[in-house]
Amino acid sequence: MIIANWKCNGSKSMIDEWFESYKSTIKNNGVYAGILGIAPPAIFINEVYDQIKKNNLDIDTISQDIAGYTRKFTGAISAKMLHENCAYSFCIIGHSERRISYNEDNKIIKDKILECLSCDINPILCIGESNEENKLGKTKEILENQLMILKNMTTSDSLTIAYEPIWAIGTGKTPNPKDVNDIHKFIKDIVQSISGNSATPIVIYGGSVNEDNAQSFLKEKFVDGALIGGASLDGSKFANIVNTFNGINLK
Ligand code: PGA
Repeated sequence: MIIANWKCNGSKSMIDEWFESYKSTIKNNGVYAGILGIAPPAIFINEVYDQIKKNNLDIDTISQDIAGYTRKFTGAISAKMLHENCAYSFCIIGHSERRISYNEDNKIIKDKILECLSCDINPILCIGESNEENKLGKTKEILENQLMILKNMTTSDSLTIAYEPIWAIGTGKTPNPKDVNDIHKFIKDIVQSISGNSATPIVIYGGSVNEDNAQSFLKEKFVDGALIGGASLDGSKFANIVNTFNGINLK
């Protein structure tokens, strides 16, 4: 699974250019080894969806966030709305930027996950430790706490966890891919042991992934894909990461 997280970036002209450069770089006639998605700002969903259809690409459109059952406030979008707009199949939840800047805690994030599941939207739950927590050797403890919201929850087959160390997001710093692999195995084991339906999640890595380092992460056994911010804003760079993913996984 390779997901582009455009965050608060994009414009109509950027979207046109993005698809042009994506198409000229992607190999295998757009046959992918797994799910491929773009999470644009909600206001551009129609432009992105139209481009995908026009170019006959097998790409999902993904929501960057959702209101949550109890937080249907001004400016928010509900899972029901996502579900009604059949363009959406997945939703990013609990990105560290939202945890930190919008004070989203486990309670709020659980509320959002349950709302997604009630409308057949697959959550992509982001978890990750801060630099300080990492230095103190607390990474697994922090991740386990963030995963506890899934305890006894019956999740979807496509439940996805994005491991995104906060200190690696947008900084150009990355953890050792072998350590990421170990953490992904840990995440899969925890979720399987606590979820109501013993689900094994898809686990993807995010944090300064680019064309040059993608291979080092994606070749690891328990790294099922990547969530990409900065490098996903250029269609050609993103296509190169997808090509790397396909090169490893397409049989
Ligand atoms: P980055 O962002 O690839 O720019 O580090 C990743 C993310 O925030 O999901």
